[in-house]
Amino acid sequence: MIFVDACYCRKTERPPVWFMRQAGRYLPEFREIRKKTEFLELCRTPELVTEVTMQPIRRFDCDAAIIFSDILVPFTPMGLDLAYEKGEGPVIRNPIRTLADVEALRIPNFQTDLGYVGDALRQTRNALSPEKALIGFVGAPFTLACYAVSGRMGKSTEEMRQWMFANPEAFQLLMDKFTEMLAGYLVYQAESGADALQIFDTWGGSLSAYDFQAYFLERFQTLMRVTADLNVPRILFIKSAAHLRYFLPSIGAEVIGLDWTMPIGHSRRMLGPKTAVQGNLDPASLFADPEWIAERTRAMIEANSGQPGYIANLGHGIHKDTPIPGVAAFVETVKTYQF
Ligand code: CP3
Repeated sequence: MIFVDACYCRKTERPPVWFMRQAGRYLPEFREIRKKTEFLELCRTPELVTEVTMQPIRRFDCDAAIIFSDILVPFTPMGLDLAYEKGEGPVIRNPIRTLADVEALRIPNFQTDLGYVGDALRQTRNALSPEKALIGFVGAPFTLACYAVSGRMGKSTEEMRQWMFANPEAFQLLMDKFTEMLAGYLVYQAESGADALQIFDTWGGSLSAYDFQAYFLERFQTLMRVTADLNVPRILFIKSAAHLRYFLPSIGAEVIGLDWTMPIGHSRRMLGPKTAVQGNLDPASLFADPEWIAERTRAMIEANSGQPGYIANLGHGIHKDTPIPGVAAFVETVKTYQF
């Protein structure tokens, strides 16, 4: 698999390509299914998950598929009352406030509580051609906490950071519980057919380097240790993590995801030759003229200077209103590029 080869810094003829949120609302065939099915019901129906996971593969022939689900799906079996409200995004009706709230959270039994994720991974792996990789994923502990504590996420982590500093005991226990849950969930997804695993940390970059190191370095290292022998590459994507780059390699993920504010060449020099990188076209740039997108996509690849261990992607999830010709220009440019 060209995608897995690039994750392990093996030589490939061109960069592999996929993009975050590649299954979703910018696709008319996805919107058609969502008209009839609520978001969580869709996540819980393996046949439909396989269908929507395959949609961007059929349309663009990406090198990897990411299983359709959400980072918050494990909240329900943990005891958090999760819903997705129209125009609002995720809502937790019983957000975490006290130590007792954290103590009450349970660690799911993956086979029984989230068996539909394992079934969807197996079915999708069967539907995919052998040269394409299937990516399983989770959210990072801090990002999950942002939703669990705020209940309704705004545009900043201010509320979460205030709670974290005001409630150190509850915070540490919550992070321990999420880390334990995530370790089991990552292993479960690899054992159910995922060829690679990505950790999404949308909000971790809002922490100071000091707090990130103090609270999360060891926890990420634990997640890497637990998944080390599964023979699947691990991708760590922390948005807005420029200030964290120099110690990220010590976490041990095979691949670091870069957002568009982090230059590829400079980041590779900071991360060292053994760490592959993934990214990082600004998702907003897909609203431009397709020829201009093709030019920018080539410039993005050139910034990697032909080193092994590069995966083309966007710098964050694709926006729901993105014009499809822009997406096609991005993928096509990578697929016809030759190192
Ligand atoms: O990438 C893929 O194609 C796989 C599916 C996927 C979804 N969410 C589906 C989804 C993945 C990998 C995620 C990750 C996720 N979910 C993250 C981390 C990545 C990131 O974007 O920063 C976060 C923070 C969430 C939580 C979440 N889920 C939010 C904040 C929202 C609402 C915002 C929005 O885009 O509407 C969701 C809902 C969600 N998850 C949708 C999809 C396709 C839209 C729901 C719908 O179809 O109506």
